[in-house]
Amino acid sequence: MNTTSAVLGGLLEVGLKQPLHIREERVSTRADACRLLYVSDIHLRHRRTSLLCRQVLDTAERSGPDVVLLGGDLVDRPSELGPLADLVRRLGAVAPVLAIGGNHDRRIGMDRVRDAVLRGGGQWIHDRIARVAHGSRVIAIAGPESAPPSEAHVRVLCAHNPRIWKASRHEGYDLVLAGHLHGFQVVGGVYRDRLFPGALFYPYCFLSHQRGSSRLVVSRGVSDLLPIRWMCPREVVLCHV
Ligand SMILES: [Fe+2]
Repeated sequence: MNTTSAVLGGLLEVGLKQPLHIREERVSTRADACRLLYVSDIHLRHRRTSLLCRQVLDTAERSGPDVVLLGGDLVDRPSELGPLADLVRRLGAVAPVLAIGGNHDRRIGMDRVRDAVLRGGGQWIHDRIARVAHGSRVIAIAGPESAPPSEAHVRVLCAHNPRIWKASRHEGYDLVLAGHLHGFQVVGGVYRDRLFPGALFYPYCFLSHQRGSSRLVVSRGVSDLLPIRWMCPREVVLCHV
């Protein structure tokens, strides 16, 4: 491979063969920070499921999380509900799994996706709050249809669509997680924390954005309908809180 094709290979991704990027976001610099692995937009579908599940499991095993958060758009076809339950079961051997749904899951049926997560031994937090004890601290992790948590040392909102930032940035969260990059996986540049040209059409096309004590982190996701990306690696996000 010559230098040009090596550089292009780092920027352009066609297909799903490259390993997932693990992006780290540090909301806390404490040595005993809780490690939340946010995995969104897996989009399990025929002929991709086993590869995607292997890649997600590999990142979970390599990043050593305390909790795995599945951030919605988990399945694109009802046939993939069984493999989703298997994936949750295998991830559960690494760390507790908490999950919410996204717009694609709503098409399949949110109850069916929830049941698959529960069958795999995960927790469904779409409309509730999980409290995770980490050392002497309690990390409260809320779903997108839950009320904001009250008593907790760290407050996290696990969401899918980043437009939730408009309201949630005023609700006392330390960290708001989202994904849902649909259609904006070709990136020309980043300006003021936003990915362009996507931000021209979609105001919350951020990578990471701080407002007061609240941080928004948007994952570029595991998969898309069209597996072509430019300057937009497929990824999971390891957040230290
Ligand atoms: Fe989505």
